[in-house]
Amino acid sequence: MPGETISLARALSKLGYCSRSRAALYVKSGRVTVNGKIVKVPSWRVDVEQDEIEIDNRHLTKPTTVVIMLHKPRGYVTTSDDELSRKTVYELVPNDIHLFTVGRLDLDTTGLLLFTNNGELQDKITSPEKKISKTYLVTAIGKVTQDHIEKLLRGVEISEGVVVKADECEIMKSEFSKTHLRIKIHEGKNRQVKRMLAAVGRNVAELHRSAIGKLELDLPEGAWRKLSDDEIKLIFD
Ligand code: URA
Repeated sequence: MPGETISLARALSKLGYCSRSRAALYVKSGRVTVNGKIVKVPSWRVDVEQDEIEIDNRHLTKPTTVVIMLHKPRGYVTTSDDELSRKTVYELVPNDIHLFTVGRLDLDTTGLLLFTNNGELQDKITSPEKKISKTYLVTAIGKVTQDHIEKLLRGVEISEGVVVKADECEIMKSEFSKTHLRIKIHEGKNRQVKRMLAAVGRNVAELHRSAIGKLELDLPEGAWRKLSDDEIKLIFD
């Protein structure tokens, strides 16, 4: 049974061989064959389950899935190539496997960031339909009231026509000039938590992601480790 088709360049990156832009160069230079024939068109459609893809005469098979947990420190961008030459999260993880980040954290956000070499798993974790929860610890400037919490739970407009709500939201501690919150969301819109707080008139001073699904961050800042199969399952629990 033929399955879903994707571009040859995407297939090489999905199979963990290299990035999509590098794959396009390999394809154009004639190093890649599909079912025994050289294909020089990066957008050529292939089925990774059915088609036999080779690069430099080496058959590409699906690599073993690797998932890495990183405790992202502040001051690192979630990209592999930053045009402003800032430090990137890729400097903190091994570079012998072609890893994609799973979602992103802002430059000043700390906490749990996942990487994987499996493009399908990456899509599964980030897809809003899968409703995988992300837990954030927020330090908001000023007083956050129960009224604000109810608004966040009912839904707030973060840009014109875009309404999002927290799955869970609670005040952990109130101080004179700041409030500590725990908030759970399942989408991953750009700067979502900060925009949700802004929609109720509060700015975020600190933001930390502590969990994805039931997988909790348990590493010191800047450290990484591979997840076991059981731990990968916790993401979907
Ligand atoms: N929401 C944000 O506002 N920023 C992040 O980094 C993650 C979620």
